[in-house]
Amino acid sequence: MENIDVSGGSGAIGSAFLSELAQKYPRARIHSLSRSPAAQAPAGVQTLQVDYLDENSLQAAAEQVAGIGAVDLVILAGGILHTGDIMPEKSLRELSAEKLLALFTANTVAPALTAKHFLPLLPRDRRGVFAALSARVGSISDNHLGGWYSYRASKAALNMFIRTAAIEIRRRHPEAIAVGLHPGTVESGLSQPFLRNAAPDKCFSPQYSVSRMMAVIDALSPSQSGLCFNWDGSRIDP
Ligand SMILES: NC(=O)c1ccc[n+]([C@@H]2O[C@H](COP(=O)([O-])OP(=O)(O)OC[C@H]3O[C@@H](n4cnc5c(N)ncnc54)[C@H](OP(=O)(O)O)[C@@H]3O)[C@@H](O)[C@H]2O)c1
Repeated sequence: MENIDVSGGSGAIGSAFLSELAQKYPRARIHSLSRSPAAQAPAGVQTLQVDYLDENSLQAAAEQVAGIGAVDLVILAGGILHTGDIMPEKSLRELSAEKLLALFTANTVAPALTAKHFLPLLPRDRRGVFAALSARVGSISDNHLGGWYSYRASKAALNMFIRTAAIEIRRRHPEAIAVGLHPGTVESGLSQPFLRNAAPDKCFSPQYSVSRMMAVIDALSPSQSGLCFNWDGSRIDP
């Protein structure tokens, strides 16, 4: 891989992707997209500050990333489960427009706009991968527990967006692969309030989760574009 882009680069999983990729591809040009100008990135990784809701900002970043040509790998590692006073809903009574809009904005609108500007940068003549971090709880058929309305719905919408974009992008980029990835339960600021419910052997370090997701990415084929995969490579039903 010669040209790599990771958004959500300041997050636990995003920064683990950057470290793994910088180590695995020392000669690649790697960009980290982040809302935070001070986001720490490994040596050799260039950070670009972006506003994911401002298309001028995304386009400027895309132009910079595309500077040497097509992008081999685009990882979207941003997203929220809780923010400020907003926590996942346990009941319909806890729903509000504010919560729904906050979760959809971060988990669906931001990745969709990022995809608008970065998916077309995948190579037209060779394999390229676009992988957005989704979540198993975004699977409609796998929802047996309920709760977490806004998070589940925003990730289900993200999965539909990925599938729709995959259909369009394959017309001009026949070897492109666009997928959703579930990282497992991973230690991070996002998961921290909920980790006491997780069995210790089911809670991964960001480094371990990323190493497993990289193996999944490396094994994907264009016929799998539009689908969603677990960290172990198994398919997650829509
Ligand atoms: N941790 C888990 O157990 C787990 C499980 C399933 C799925 N996931 C998914 O994995 C992804 C990464 O999660 P993480 O655990 O690494 O979380 P994290 O450490 O909290 O990082 C999330 C990153 O998302 C970006 N972000 C934060 N607020 C945002 C907003 N309002 N709008 C857009 N971007 C925002 C930030 O990166 P920048 O400012 O640098 O862009 C932030 O560092 C998320 O999509 C999450 O849903 C995580």
